[in-house]
Amino acid sequence: MKIKAAITHEKGTMSLEELELAPPQKGQVLVKMVACGVCHTDEAGINQLIPVALPAVFGHEGVGVVEELGPGVTSLKKGDRIIMTFPSCGVCDYCAEGHPYACDNINTLFFNGSYLDGTKRLSQNGTAVSSFFGQGAFATYAVADERNVVKADVASDDELAYLCSLGCGVQTGVGAVLNRLRPKKGSSIAVFGCGGVGMSAVMGAAIAGCGTIIAVDVAPSRLETAKSLGATHAVNGRECDAVEEIRKITKGGAQYSVESSGVPALTLQALNSLRRNGAAIVVSVTGPAEVSIALEPMLMNKSATLYGLTEGGSNPPIFIPELVKYYREGRLPIDKLVKFYKFEDIKRAFEDSHSGATIKPILRF
Ligand SMILES: NC(=O)c1ccc[n+]([C@@H]2O[C@H](COP(=O)([O-])OP(=O)(O)OC[C@H]3O[C@@H](n4cnc5c(N)ncnc54)[C@H](O)[C@@H]3O)[C@@H](O)[C@H]2O)c1
Ligand SMILES: [Zn+2]
Ligand SMILES: [Zn+2]
Repeated sequence: MKIKAAITHEKGTMSLEELELAPPQKGQVLVKMVACGVCHTDEAGINQLIPVALPAVFGHEGVGVVEELGPGVTSLKKGDRIIMTFPSCGVCDYCAEGHPYACDNINTLFFNGSYLDGTKRLSQNGTAVSSFFGQGAFATYAVADERNVVKADVASDDELAYLCSLGCGVQTGVGAVLNRLRPKKGSSIAVFGCGGVGMSAVMGAAIAGCGTIIAVDVAPSRLETAKSLGATHAVNGRECDAVEEIRKITKGGAQYSVESSGVPALTLQALNSLRRNGAAIVVSVTGPAEVSIALEPMLMNKSATLYGLTEGGSNPPIFIPELVKYYREGRLPIDKLVKFYKFEDIKRAFEDSHSGATIKPILRF
């Protein structure tokens, strides 16, 4: 079928063009897209910091309605509202253990543009086109593997549109806290970098019942938003020594910290701001490390733990419905992060994401 998609032919570019989308194959579904979030990882792919095979259609926070089922699909039916998420193979040891975020085939499935069966569904004038993250969701329609979509219990397409980043950014931040750090009720946590991911970590900390939630950023407006999401304290890292400030607030150091800024030096700050027995988690994607961290005194003397985690340690069919439930209960107020854009305004959505003007731009189709 003919669809309209934002296609990247050359590094750093994107244009809305007509493409051909082949029907869903075994285990796949055709989705009529309702909306798609803009994530920093799309920008990394478009600029070829991640070497995705071009031409490609990016977009990996898609939501939509199931339009057609490929052979063998049993968990979904036509008309289901769904959230697309990261792909995984389903057969490696990690997938078999219920840890698809650690799938052995992540690099291939996220970034090489093909589906589980190794083929592509998109083409233009006979040339195969990659679908990023097994989605290619900057498009009016997309094909996804059944295991990469989760049914969403929502009342309308408009409500569904708010939930785009449950498939990536929100599950990354909330999951880092709830699935890996698992903070005790009343405990203290510091979150470095309050973009979509860090804000989600703040919301996760509030859900977990943390007593002291310290948001660290350099943008005053972001710190204000973090407070409206549950941060009890806001620290501007440009105006003070964030580590000293966190130690002061927590009388010695936080029990947990999250690095979600993407600034390599802040991993060291996240560790330095911990009290003994504390745990820090890095969820950001950084460039080449600018700092070498003396891990032994840091981790051994303080009896500290340092984690790294992809996609919030999420097992999507279990975790995404939990997130939808939190949203519907008002405990995950992601609408405070969202601004909607028309598909035609995709370039402005990227500019606003890049400049920081919008925390979570969402395209509507
Ligand atoms: N682990 C995963 O699976 C996963 C998934 C999605 C995104 N990510 C990564 O998570 C990171 C965060 O994503 P995002 O969309 O929230 O990004 P973002 O750019 O919106 O947020 C980064 C925040 O850090 C703040 N910041 C910058 N320099 C700072 C400093 N010196 N001190 C304090 N704060 C500072 C910025 O003001 C901004 O608010 C990115 O690196 C992204 O690639 C990882
Ligand atoms: Zn796997
Ligand atoms: Zn993402």
